[in-house]
Amino acid sequence: MKIAVAGAGYVGLVTGVVFADLGNEVICVDIDPARVDAINKGQSPIYEPGLDELLTRNLEEGRLSATTDLAHAVRESEVIFICVGTPPSETGEPDLRYVDEAAATIGRALNGYKIIVNKSTVPVGTGDRVRRIIEQHRTEPHDFDVVSNPEFLREGSAVHDTLNPDRIVIGADNPRAAMKIVELYAPLERPMLITNLATAEVIKYASNTFLALKISFINAIADLCERTGADVVQVAKAMGYDQRIGHAFLQAGLGFGGSCFPKDVLAFARTVQRYNLDPTLFEQILVINDARPVQFINRIRERLGGLQGRTIGLLGLSFKPNTDDIREARSLEVIRLLLTEGAVVKAYDPVAMPRVQAIYPQVHYCRNAYEVAENADALALITEWNEFRQLNFERIKSLMREPNLFDGRNLYDPQRMRKMGFYYYGVGRAADNGGFGTLL
Ligand code: UGA
Repeated sequence: MKIAVAGAGYVGLVTGVVFADLGNEVICVDIDPARVDAINKGQSPIYEPGLDELLTRNLEEGRLSATTDLAHAVRESEVIFICVGTPPSETGEPDLRYVDEAAATIGRALNGYKIIVNKSTVPVGTGDRVRRIIEQHRTEPHDFDVVSNPEFLREGSAVHDTLNPDRIVIGADNPRAAMKIVELYAPLERPMLITNLATAEVIKYASNTFLALKISFINAIADLCERTGADVVQVAKAMGYDQRIGHAFLQAGLGFGGSCFPKDVLAFARTVQRYNLDPTLFEQILVINDARPVQFINRIRERLGGLQGRTIGLLGLSFKPNTDDIREARSLEVIRLLLTEGAVVKAYDPVAMPRVQAIYPQVHYCRNAYEVAENADALALITEWNEFRQLNFERIKSLMREPNLFDGRNLYDPQRMRKMGFYYYGVGRAADNGGFGTLL
C-alpha cells in the first residue's frame, strides 16, 4: 500500500517505519527540514530502541523516504496518516492547529479517493472536523473517508508496541475505509476493534486517563500507608493478583510525567466539562500527581533539617527509563524545588542530561551514579533506569557525606538498604516490617 505519514515525531516516525517494514511504500512528512534530512540519512531524530536499525533497512530497500512536501506525499498515496502534535492550549484543551493545517493541505492535494487516518490524540469530534476542513479545501469533488486509529505505543518501547499492540482500534463511519485499514494491520495478527469515529476517539483518552487514574490511586494509597505503617508495594502486589485489577500501573512513587498523561487527562477533563458533565474525578488525578514531588522534597527536608546549602544527588532525569524525553519529567519539578530552597543539586542520567542542562545549567552533571554520590547529603532516585538497580551501595555509602537514600520509584529493598546502614525512604514504605511481609 502507498502511505503518507504527516508528522515524523514519536508516533509518526515509528508508525511510518513499521509500515515500511511490513512491505508498504511510505513517505514520512515533517515541517522541520533538519528532521527530514536526518531521517533520509538514516539517523533517527528520537532515541528509541530498535528504531535506527529498522529505519536504515527500509531506507536502503527503498520503501521509506522523508520530505517536507505534504501535498506531494498526499498525491502519491492511498492512505494518509495524520500524526502531528496536539500540544495543550492555555485552556488545557489540545491545540488542533497542526491537525487543521494538515487537513487543509490534504484537501487541496486530493487527486482521487483517499483514506485519511487520524492517529494524533484528539478530542471526540475531531474526525468530523477533519472531514469538514478537507471538504472546504478540495478543489475537485474527489471522494475520501476519515478514520480514527488511536495509537497506544509507549515511549522507550515504541517499536515493540507498534509491532505487538494489545489491540488495534479502527473508528470509521464507512466500512469500506475500515476494511482497508484492517488489511494494512492484518500482518500483525493482533485483535482489532472496528467502531464508529466518536467511539475510537473516546477510547484513546479513556485508556490514558484510566492508566493515570491507577497511578494516582496507588499514590493516594501510598500516603495512607506512610501514616499507618503499611507498605504500599505489598498492598499493590496483593491488589494486582485480583485479575479484575491487575498488576500494571500500580507502582507508587513520584507520579507520572511525559508528553501524554498530564496533557491527556487535562484535555479529557475539559472535554467532559464541555459536555456539561462533572470533571472532578479526572481533575483529581492531576491534583494528586502534582503533589508528588512536593511531598518527596518534604521528606528530604525533614530528614536533613533544611535544604539550604545541602547537596542532593539525583539518579535519573528522563520522565521514565529508556528515553531521553524530559517533557513533564518529575526531575524538573524536583530540581526546581531543590534550587528554590538553596540546595546544591548533582545529577546523572544515561541519556537525558543534555536536555535538562539546557533548562538548569546550574545543576552539577556527573558521569555516573558514584560521582553523584560523592559528598552528597542525600541521594534521590528519580527514574528507575536498569543501571541503577545493581549499584555498589557499599561504595555509594562510603562516598556520601551522609548515607540518606530517597527512593522515588521504590526500586530498592528497604530492609537491605537499612541493614547496610542507609537511612532509607521509599514512597509509601515507611514501615519497618522487621522481616515480615517479604515478597516472594
Ligand atoms: C502512555 C501510554 O502508556 C501509552 O499507551 C500511550 O500510547 C501514550 O501514553 C500516548 O498517549 O502517546 P508513555 O507516556 O510513553 O505512554 O509512558 P508510560 O510508560 O505510560 O509512563 C507514563 C508515566 O507514568 C511515567 O512517568 C512513569 O514513570 C509513570 N508510571 C507508570 C508510574 O508512576 N507508575 C506506574 O505504575 C506506571
